[in-house]
Amino acid sequence: MNTTPDPSAAVQRLYDTYPFPPEPLLDAPPPGYNWRWNWLAAYNFCTGQKPQRQDVRILDAGCGTGVGTEYLVHLNPEAQVVGIDLSAGALSVAKERCQRSGANRVEFHHLSLYNADQLDGEFDLINCVGVLHHLPDPIKGIQSLAPKLAPGGLMHIFVYAELGRWEIQLMQKAIALLQGDKRGDYRDGVQLGRSLFASLPETNRIVKREKERWSMENQRDANFADMYVHPQEIDYNIDTLFELIDASGLEFLGFSNPSYWQLERLFGKDPTLIERAKELSDRERYRLIELLDPEVSHYEFFLARPPLPKADWSTDEALLAAIPERNPCMDGWPSKCLFNYDYQIVNLSEAEFEFLQACDANVAQQQTVREILAQVKLGLEEVRSLLQRQLVVLTPA
Ligand SMILES: C[S@@+](CC[C@H](N)C(=O)[O-])C[C@H]1O[C@@H](n2cnc3c(N)ncnc32)[C@H](O)[C@@H]1O
Repeated sequence: MNTTPDPSAAVQRLYDTYPFPPEPLLDAPPPGYNWRWNWLAAYNFCTGQKPQRQDVRILDAGCGTGVGTEYLVHLNPEAQVVGIDLSAGALSVAKERCQRSGANRVEFHHLSLYNADQLDGEFDLINCVGVLHHLPDPIKGIQSLAPKLAPGGLMHIFVYAELGRWEIQLMQKAIALLQGDKRGDYRDGVQLGRSLFASLPETNRIVKREKERWSMENQRDANFADMYVHPQEIDYNIDTLFELIDASGLEFLGFSNPSYWQLERLFGKDPTLIERAKELSDRERYRLIELLDPEVSHYEFFLARPPLPKADWSTDEALLAAIPERNPCMDGWPSKCLFNYDYQIVNLSEAEFEFLQACDANVAQQQTVREILAQVKLGLEEVRSLLQRQLVVLTPA
């Protein structure tokens, strides 16, 4: 008899028991946005320019209960979206979620990432959030997805980082030890884990970390189970992360939370340290940052299949001849005080506000920066600043 446990079957059972994420179903499109799921904003972030097409194909690989999938449909009104997942339970919630909010440009398949080759055609955007680290063989997973990415396409990935999940790993192991023969009974694991948290002293390091960082989301059992009784989890550090990325054969474009990865944030006051760090490669610099700020609990980043254009707006001529639009990911517009694509507060000057208003009208008129600047009192450097803050998106001449 073969008694080797099948990790994929165990993962499937976890998510059939506790479909994830357990967000409530709404009868309307979900509120707000995540720019990483907006093709135009994501493409602009990666290339510095507007994509040529909006009628793209998007794959949500390991879509779970469809929270991200639903956003992908609503934020990309011309896109066709496909969601795949190992868990039939999660998929049935995803289908109902999308149906209830009118997200009808989507189809779902009960399919493992490992079998992505069974899907028709290629995709312009592949979203794979919180999935690869739950595969017994993440390299095989990413290598199955990579051939499905179209040339010039983007892949957005989110995987766990080991440094900021140290206490979680300890608790996972403690629960598994105490569960003994009942390991794999996820409801028992949740109950046991909750009793442990209730019993350990308040000063306990694992308890303190749970309280300050995770307890809000872990009020729901599905979140608690996903965190503490998962049967299959591989956490990364920068070195192992880049082994995964290199194995994909795709190009690493950068992290989609770039502010964490700034050395200046850590020792900006000491220019000699910044100078010393200049000798480091990108990967060594990333490693240095996570070593010095081990709060990091996940990595999120974009990969691409070349060729991907890289806009160059360094010459005034290129900038003046470009056609500007307002970044669609913006909350509070039209107002001079609003949230940008990343939900950071922005205060616009009167002239910047007028420029963005002209950009809005521009979707139909297709005027160049030069033509708009003939009507609005704004300098070219201020246009560069709008561009650099990703408030405007440009199409090259
Ligand atoms: C933590 S959930 C993430 C769900 C969704 N991506 C999100 O971020 O909201 C992980 C999902 O990956 C799915 N999954 C795990 N292994 C898989 C595989 N080999 N193929 C497809 N889906 C898988 C699970 O069933 C589960 O729904």
